[in-house]
Amino acid sequence: MTRFPLFTVFLLTLGVAHSVAASSMQPAPRTPSVSDVRSTLASMPHGDVQRGKKLNQSLMCASCHGDDGVAPTQNWASLAGQRAAYTYKSLLDYQTGGRHENDRATLMKVVVKGMSRQDMADVAAYYASLPAKAAPAPRLDAAAHARTDRLARRGDPARLLTPCASCHGVAGQGGVNETPALAGQSVGSFVRTMQDYREGRRVTDANQGMRQFAERLTMQEIHDLAAYYARPGKN
Ligand code: HEC
Ligand code: HEC
Repeated sequence: MTRFPLFTVFLLTLGVAHSVAASSMQPAPRTPSVSDVRSTLASMPHGDVQRGKKLNQSLMCASCHGDDGVAPTQNWASLAGQRAAYTYKSLLDYQTGGRHENDRATLMKVVVKGMSRQDMADVAAYYASLPAKAAPAPRLDAAAHARTDRLARRGDPARLLTPCASCHGVAGQGGVNETPALAGQSVGSFVRTMQDYREGRRVTDANQGMRQFAERLTMQEIHDLAAYYARPGKN
């Protein structure tokens, strides 16, 4: 276990140095439009699952995201069952500096520095081929479950909240194009992500779609949604 924090400190040190150097050269990243995202995905190479599996080990992705894409701690995101287009887009977002919401993103920015687009498509195909697993999460009581299930499946018209399920799938399995799977995501990663959207630090979502949804939710609702999607069908 001690190898994870040490490795992280090493990467973060590199990352901060890199981002300080880069910040003076790169323009501030802007939120992409839907057509920006479409053209990025249109040129995605065909991914090779077996090559992706090897890269997951040789590039040390497995040390944080697990051999089988299931993160061993709440610090990291699980990638098993993630849609390939989303993983590919995320890796490119880190590489181009579009995703820069916190120190963890800085770390990923260092990790992906030398990756080719083919490498990204290959690891993406590998994670997409793996089954999502339930993540540890607090159990929702019956009332909280009913409330959260309604929010996820029906949204809340009074707050202009579109159902999460209409884009992310009824079981959180992911939707079309870059719409990510949420099933089995670690609670820590889910909550941090929603906070990064609602506070405007994460700007990778086309037309700020996720930012607008996240802003309309309370923190309690975000925690409940995290638990709901961490163990789909079991909460
Ligand atoms: C030292 C730990 C560490 C290593 C090594 C690492 N990652 Fe990550 N990864 C993270 C963290 C932390 C995040 C969440 C970052 C954020 O909030 O932006 C992340 C996020 C991601 C995401 C986005 C997930 C999401 O749900 O949005 C992808 C995809 C990813 N990593 C793939 C990889 C790949 C591929 C490799 C190997 C080339 C790799 N990671 C190596 C820690 C790591
Ligand atoms: C109109 C479609 C749409 C709706 C509705 C929607 N999302 Fe999203 N969501 C997306 C897209 C597209 C992304 C990827 C954006 C990006 O690349 O940053 C995303 C990203 C996310 C992420 C980040 C996943 C990761 O691993 O990085 C989370 C968490 C999330 N959505 C949760 C929700 C929840 C909870 C709801 C309901 C309250 C919801 N979304 C409603 C389309 C939608």
